[in-house]
Amino acid sequence: MPASLLITRIGELVTNAPSGAAPGPGRLAVIKDAALVVEGDRIAWTGPSARAPAADAVTDAGGRAVLPGFVDSHAHLVFAGDRSAEFAARMAGRAYTAGGIRATVAATRAATDAELRAGLRRLEREMLRQGTTTFECKSGYGLTVADEARSVALAAEVTPEVTFLGAHVVPAEFGGDPARYVDLVCGAMLDACAPRSRWVDVFCERGAFGADEARAVLTAGRARGLMPRIHANQLGYGPGVQLAVELGAASADHCTFLSPADVDALASSGTVATLLPGAEFGTRQPYPDARRLLDAGVVVALATDCNPGSSYTTSMPFCVALAVRDMRMTPAEAVWAATAGGARALRRADVGYLAPGARADLIMLDAPSHAHLAYRPGVPLVSAAWQAGRRVGAA
Ligand code: NIG
Ligand code: FE
Repeated sequence: MPASLLITRIGELVTNAPSGAAPGPGRLAVIKDAALVVEGDRIAWTGPSARAPAADAVTDAGGRAVLPGFVDSHAHLVFAGDRSAEFAARMAGRAYTAGGIRATVAATRAATDAELRAGLRRLEREMLRQGTTTFECKSGYGLTVADEARSVALAAEVTPEVTFLGAHVVPAEFGGDPARYVDLVCGAMLDACAPRSRWVDVFCERGAFGADEARAVLTAGRARGLMPRIHANQLGYGPGVQLAVELGAASADHCTFLSPADVDALASSGTVATLLPGAEFGTRQPYPDARRLLDAGVVVALATDCNPGSSYTTSMPFCVALAVRDMRMTPAEAVWAATAGGARALRRADVGYLAPGARADLIMLDAPSHAHLAYRPGVPLVSAAWQAGRRVGAA
């Protein structure tokens, strides 16, 4: 790797950093006819092509757009098995329920470490090919102490953003006694998983965990040094969003069914609303009302929710396209939410923007502007990617 790389003749450089420094909440910032310099693993300079400094190596972008790598702040990647028949049944009219998770739990428990690792690596490669340079990964398909511990250990092999989701659903063997399962999650399971996790999450939903159970798990996680995030208000109205705000969670994820009080609570909090349109696509539910959240001043992130049940996609460009077409986000809002928004949802100050000091995570599109991500849905537009300054993955 050369000590410095100049990428020049960038048609549109999305920086998310209007003042050339780390971004606040808000809007996409772009520089037309731009250049940037990478030094080591960091961005050293951004500005107009005409003023670009010299560097050890030069890449000519030929008018293409360059963006921060996508930050996918919500993904369930440690699992085995296939639920395509469940998907097909849903498309024929069957409703999605939280209980489908148990089918993946059985397959995951039966899988070897090598099988789980191979699946995880495959999904990681898929993500990178589609421009994701930072991603979160949850446990939650093991649901025994040993199976959750190996899930977080495998996740930690591919990302620092590891989330303990022992409270994904009450496993079949605890069917009659959810309280005993919550005790296990808050005790021995957390003890085994906390050392390799950064986050604690709960699926707070009818058919999964109620407010008191969720509060107990998140509070126990916080006592072990984990930061809370929460699956909230996905399948119906409920207490998840209020709980996320009460506990100062980094993010409330899904936010599909929100009362006016939920929107107000989010707007006056530091909790990001992470919208996961792949899940509404895969369950044929109504999409969350992104416009209502944005207009209320809520910080919005977009993520894939990649999982084998409700949203088996690794594609942030697909989620951007859905958000623009079906959730009334502008292309600029959606791209901001998929980059800087995801970084905020993970409380990361080093990714999601391109300005001096930021980690050199960037993607080049075979297109002149970010809008093409929604304008050309389903087209593999990511033509190159750099992660911490190193050229990676994409063609
Ligand atoms: O985010 N909601 C909980 N977890 C996943 C679904 C998991 C599954 O169906 O396997 C979600 O949609
Ligand atoms: Fe999820």
